[in-house]
Amino acid sequence: MAMICLIFLLGALTAKITSGYTHPCALRDYGDERKVCVCNATYCDTITRKENTIDRDEFMTLVSSKDGLRFQKNIGKFSQNETKPGATSNSVLSWLLGSSTSETLILTINTTVRYQKIVGFGGAFTDAAGINILSLGKEMQEMLLRSYFSDEGIEYNLCRVPVSGTDFSTHPYSYDDNNRLPDPLLKNFSLAKEDLKYKIPMILRAQSMSKRNIKLVAASWSPPPWMKTNNDFSGLSFLKPEYYDSYAKYILRFLDEYNKNNVTIWAISTGNEPSNGVLPVKHFNSLGWTPLGIANWTTHYFGPQLRSSTHNQTLILAFDDQRLFLPWWIDLMVKANRRVLDFIDGIAIHWYWDMFISDNVIKELHQNYPSKFLLYTEASQGDKPWEKKVELGSWERGEAYLADIIENLNAWVTGWMDWNLALDEQGGPTWAKNYVDSPILVNASGGEFYKQPMFYAIGHVTKFIERDAERIEISPSDQTEIQATAVVNPDARLVIVIINKGNVEKNVSIQVPRKGWMNFNLPARSFATIVCDLKD
Ligand SMILES: *[C@@H]1O[C@H](CO)[C@@H](O)[C@H](O)[C@H]1NC(C)=O
Ligand SMILES: *[C@@H]1O[C@H](CO)[C@@H](O)[C@H](O)[C@H]1NC(C)=O
Ligand SMILES: *[C@@H]1O[C@H](CO)[C@@H](O)[C@H](O)[C@H]1NC(C)=O
Ligand SMILES: *[C@@H]1O[C@H](CO)[C@@H](O)[C@H](O)[C@H]1NC(C)=O
Ligand SMILES: *[C@@H]1O[C@H](CO)[C@@H](O)[C@H](O)[C@H]1NC(C)=O
Ligand SMILES: *[C@@H]1O[C@H](CO)[C@@H](O)[C@H](O)[C@H]1NC(C)=O
Ligand SMILES: *[C@@H]1O[C@H](CO)[C@@H](O)[C@H](O)[C@H]1NC(C)=O
Ligand SMILES: *[C@@H]1O[C@H](CO)[C@@H](O)[C@H](O)[C@H]1NC(C)=O
Ligand SMILES: *[C@@H]1O[C@H](CO)[C@@H](O)[C@H](O)[C@H]1NC(C)=O
Repeated sequence: MAMICLIFLLGALTAKITSGYTHPCALRDYGDERKVCVCNATYCDTITRKENTIDRDEFMTLVSSKDGLRFQKNIGKFSQNETKPGATSNSVLSWLLGSSTSETLILTINTTVRYQKIVGFGGAFTDAAGINILSLGKEMQEMLLRSYFSDEGIEYNLCRVPVSGTDFSTHPYSYDDNNRLPDPLLKNFSLAKEDLKYKIPMILRAQSMSKRNIKLVAASWSPPPWMKTNNDFSGLSFLKPEYYDSYAKYILRFLDEYNKNNVTIWAISTGNEPSNGVLPVKHFNSLGWTPLGIANWTTHYFGPQLRSSTHNQTLILAFDDQRLFLPWWIDLMVKANRRVLDFIDGIAIHWYWDMFISDNVIKELHQNYPSKFLLYTEASQGDKPWEKKVELGSWERGEAYLADIIENLNAWVTGWMDWNLALDEQGGPTWAKNYVDSPILVNASGGEFYKQPMFYAIGHVTKFIERDAERIEISPSDQTEIQATAVVNPDARLVIVIINKGNVEKNVSIQVPRKGWMNFNLPARSFATIVCDLKD
């Protein structure tokens, strides 16, 4: 009997102290605290679901840090008390120094009020991503896709698919280039080899290895040049009024062709970054729209055609552009024709100028259009002219991603998508030389790929927050160095995501109604996900 108990006890003990995962990160330091997790033909780190079991009186913390922790797992027990502030021996000293380093950070959650439902998180199936993934051997292709989509990975469930080419293609193209000669009946329409090689197969492989339902969001960058005022892919341009109808039909043909290839598009925007065709700061595939023009096209052509087609379930997203133009752009569009609201289901936003514009514009947008869900559809770093394109192992870039996700979830946003799933070491290929960074960088000649801190930043959210989770109150949610957001998953698990941007560790105490306190330590410069079961 005693023997059995002992074995039991040992079993329980070993279960609790399993820290990390079956395959921990193979950390490589590139100097200046720039660290990546290296995957090669025989090894890649994983994070599986089955290792996430916890009892009702326990909570789990997963921590990644600038120091090199990646999804470091710990199990704690609920306590009846918060961590005592100043419980450390140096309280007199810190009082004398006026230091607040030994203060416990107290966070309170309230599960009563439920805010928006979560749609999901992910990245984009660009041509560049497909090219990079296919530049690896078959096993490594599988590992890379599994890192994003399988239950051993961070399980993306919301991804973007461009309609024809983008700046992250090797050349500009549409589905009916026709030597730039008009083809209003779209007789020469056909998908490109890129769709059949780099996009559709990647999507199908991702879906087949995922335990989640991966929703797809499409957007068109540029129509065929002959439909445009400048007869080109990039630069200052608008849609020629005589092709308003053809362009709507062109988009519907894309949906048809993708369906024929077993890919269903969940939502499609009215076009990527319309501002880029009006203010062509950067030259790449684009189409300019004024709020007036897009209101017309959406209400008279695109909206009605989509709704009366077999794609009537596909949602329409408006805008697909930067915070900078909110909320006036939407207001002008609605003012031009209020009926546009009958066609649009949500509003898509890009992250690029978030650091300069307050999240109040997002909150205001929700207030003014409460029935339209808000979705972040694109983010990448290194886009600014003064920035390094690829910054291998940058913790700061991971921090910027997670801070932006938390801020936007707290401002009613329902999901957040990164840009290219994978790029090469230069941040390409991109025909427009618009190099940027990516959570996964591929080194084909070295037979390796690198998971950057950005990968884990998104992972701290996407792995644990399920679709249809409801956001709840956590306060304070935004302090100088700490930001937090909280949701309740459909299975009644509470998930809290916290970022510590400070250079010192913090002791955190979170009160959970009916359960008690979760007391834990948040290392300096870290991301943390805290999970517990709200059921009694
Ligand atoms: C692959 O990575 C593992 C873990 O870091 C390492 O032990 C192994 O030597 C690497 N293989 C090659 C071929 O580099
Ligand atoms: C918790 O706090 C109560 C009252 O504040 C105190 O009586 C009790 O000893 C504390 N328990 C622990 C474990 O600190
Ligand atoms: C956190 O708590 C531990 C244990 O009580 C203590 O040793 C440490 O100094 C505390 N750290 C901070 C930053 O307060
Ligand atoms: C939670 O929010 C509800 C609704 O605002 C409020 O009535 C309740 O007092 C709050 N609970 C706590 C513990 O603050
Ligand atoms: C368009 O397709 C027709 C045949 O369907 C072909 O004769 C014509 O050359 C094509 N036009 C261009 C510009 O490729
Ligand atoms: C919409 O655009 C078409 C084509 O330019 C034009 O004929 C029509 O008058 C416009 N409708 C409105 C309501 O602006
Ligand atoms: C689509 O799915 C069906 C049924 O699973 C299959 O028979 C067909 O080959 C698929 N088509 C493509 C293009 O993948
Ligand atoms: C909506 O689409 C479905 C197929 O996707 C079709 O069966 C149905 O008839 C369509 N409804 C309308 C109103 O067009
Ligand atoms: C990529 O692999 C090559 C070897 O082919 C190596 O020289 C290079 O340093 C690797 N890049 C990185 C970032 O490690």
